[in-house]
Amino acid sequence: MDFRKVQFCLSAHTVGQLPPPEYPEVAFAGRSNVGKSSLINRLVERVNLVKTSGKPGKTQSLNYFTVENTLYLVDLPGYGFARVSHQTRQKWEELIGGYIESRSTLVCVVVVIDLRHELKELDRELIQWLRYLDVPCLPVYTKADKLSFGRQQKHAALLDAGLTLYADQRIIFSARTGQGVAALRQHLTTYAAS
Ligand code: GTP
Ligand code: MG
Repeated sequence: MDFRKVQFCLSAHTVGQLPPPEYPEVAFAGRSNVGKSSLINRLVERVNLVKTSGKPGKTQSLNYFTVENTLYLVDLPGYGFARVSHQTRQKWEELIGGYIESRSTLVCVVVVIDLRHELKELDRELIQWLRYLDVPCLPVYTKADKLSFGRQQKHAALLDAGLTLYADQRIIFSARTGQGVAALRQHLTTYAAS
């Protein structure tokens, strides 16, 4: 599967605006500013297919991309940004929660987590909820370029323990260096429609 053959499809602000469930889809979730959009750009080898920003809260809608007419990639708005109103938070929970619960073609949620930091409660809750719903999830620990190799391993082991998973069930990643991108492509290829 050639991830460079990617096209922007649409932005959905409500569940009603989602495209017909034509292809299997992989969604990218994680805290605001963790690097979801940058990860997708690296995955598809485009510098700015997906808008990224130094300021949290850049992605506000579900952004759909198709790869080779066999898979949808869906960039989700981030969660856990402290300076949002109660109303905005509620809207996120309704939109993203409703989407994850009801989307029949959702085959995997990539949960992007910052490798530098301790496990955050919201990340753990999301992964537990995905397990409860039986939606396959792939944790990706990003911004690895900010740590030495030794620290990467140490931090990853702590996150693994917090999420009760094995090292082969997650990927250490960097959008900046491309570390982990081959493993990510390999994993996602298994979900594409044949
Ligand atoms: P929202 O859409 O606001 O939720 O953010 P996002 O999760 O899509 O994050 P985005 O990709 O916009 O990246 C946020 C910031 O982190 C940007 O300044 C990126 O350049 C930076 N960033 C993302 N990934 C990496 C990485 O792997 N390494 C480093 N060093 N910086 C990164
Ligand atoms: Mg984004």
